[in-house]
Amino acid sequence: MKVSAVFLLVATSAVLLSASVSAKNIVCYFTSWTVYRNGNGQFDVDKIDPFLCTHIMFGFVGITNEGKINILDHWESDDDGLKHFSLLANLTQVNPYLKIMVSMGGWNEGSQKYSEVAADPAKRKLLAEEVVHFLEEHKFQGFDLDWEYPGIRDGSDVQHDPANFVELLKELKTALYPRGYILSAAVSGGVTNMDIAYDVPLVSELLDIINVMVYDFHGAFEPFVGHFAPLTASSKDDAGNATLNVKSGIQHWIDRGADPAKMHLGVGTYGRSFTLADPNNAELYAPTSGGGKSGPYTGQDGVLGYNEICELHSDWTYIWDDEQQVPHRVGGNQWVGYEDERSLALKVEYAKEKNLGGIMVWSFDTDDFRGICGSETYPLIRTIKKTLIN
Ligand SMILES: *[C@@H]1O[C@H](CO)[C@@H](O)[C@H](O)[C@H]1NC(C)=O
Ligand SMILES: *[C@@H]1O[C@H](CO)[C@@H](O)[C@H](O)[C@H]1NC(C)=O
Repeated sequence: MKVSAVFLLVATSAVLLSASVSAKNIVCYFTSWTVYRNGNGQFDVDKIDPFLCTHIMFGFVGITNEGKINILDHWESDDDGLKHFSLLANLTQVNPYLKIMVSMGGWNEGSQKYSEVAADPAKRKLLAEEVVHFLEEHKFQGFDLDWEYPGIRDGSDVQHDPANFVELLKELKTALYPRGYILSAAVSGGVTNMDIAYDVPLVSELLDIINVMVYDFHGAFEPFVGHFAPLTASSKDDAGNATLNVKSGIQHWIDRGADPAKMHLGVGTYGRSFTLADPNNAELYAPTSGGGKSGPYTGQDGVLGYNEICELHSDWTYIWDDEQQVPHRVGGNQWVGYEDERSLALKVEYAKEKNLGGIMVWSFDTDDFRGICGSETYPLIRTIKKTLIN
């Protein structure tokens, strides 16, 4: 009896241990406005494969100056029209292990309102109550805060935001944890930004999931060519550029005291593009005259979805950068750096090497979700999943 009881105990903890070690997450963002895109770019909840990701984030809801949730588009999100909240929640009927979360913020929301709410104890409390109410009403499993960023950008308060951000997370944690809800945040992967914005040990302790946005290091906001998410530095980087890569960002979070098991390495299914000033100079740091031409689905200069690149620009010359471990394509005066199966597999291997909790993906809608370019749907997210569990 005794022996078998001990054996059982050991066997059980071994199972638990192996379960927690192999339970790697793939946190995927659903960007609700993609329902308005044209043609093959049009995306909706029915295009989501509920078995690809472990967590799905609805992006985004906004905030009011008072600390209330601001539904940014009632037509696509709640029960007035397309019912995205309800459709997402219902995906757990197909895959009961899936977690559906609501994400608040994003780049376009700016920093000011978050700074104001985080600074006021009554507003922090109201927001936490609102979030609990939202999760109960819509049957979601967690909340994701995407304040970009504490202490950075217009209207932020560089002196007080970092401490107030921690206070806000405490308020949210106190409300969410006893009810079994997950608390996550998307955080900057830039070394300079994170030194300003975050008290890393406290942030790490309070969050269940830390999504590190190690992308957008370069783009049309600079007047020269650069990859948006290089895995490593280039020998052409100078002192000011040498940390603008995935490994530097992840390592800095770890060095500053984040728990690697909570960290999720963020990757993009898109590319950032440029118009070359001189088509004969397509090297890293070559001068540019602006962003690359917009694509028919994403519709923004300087950005192309992987789906747009593979459907429409497979004739552009493919170049693999051995130093930075990422691909780009050049066609005439157009240059686009992006992610493919090879570069993503390397990023996932790195996340495994660092014992991270998993990968965060921005976002479903720019992967080849229809399977137009190859034999299967979602080649990028599928590669992440395969590499993560192998
Ligand atoms: C979600 O599932 C519930 C329960 O099965 C159902 O009543 C509801 O209509 C579903 N929502 C949508 C938008 O299909
Ligand atoms: C990055 O490198 C480029 C080209 O060498 C340079 O022009 C730019 O100023 C650098 N950026 C920073 C932040 O140092």
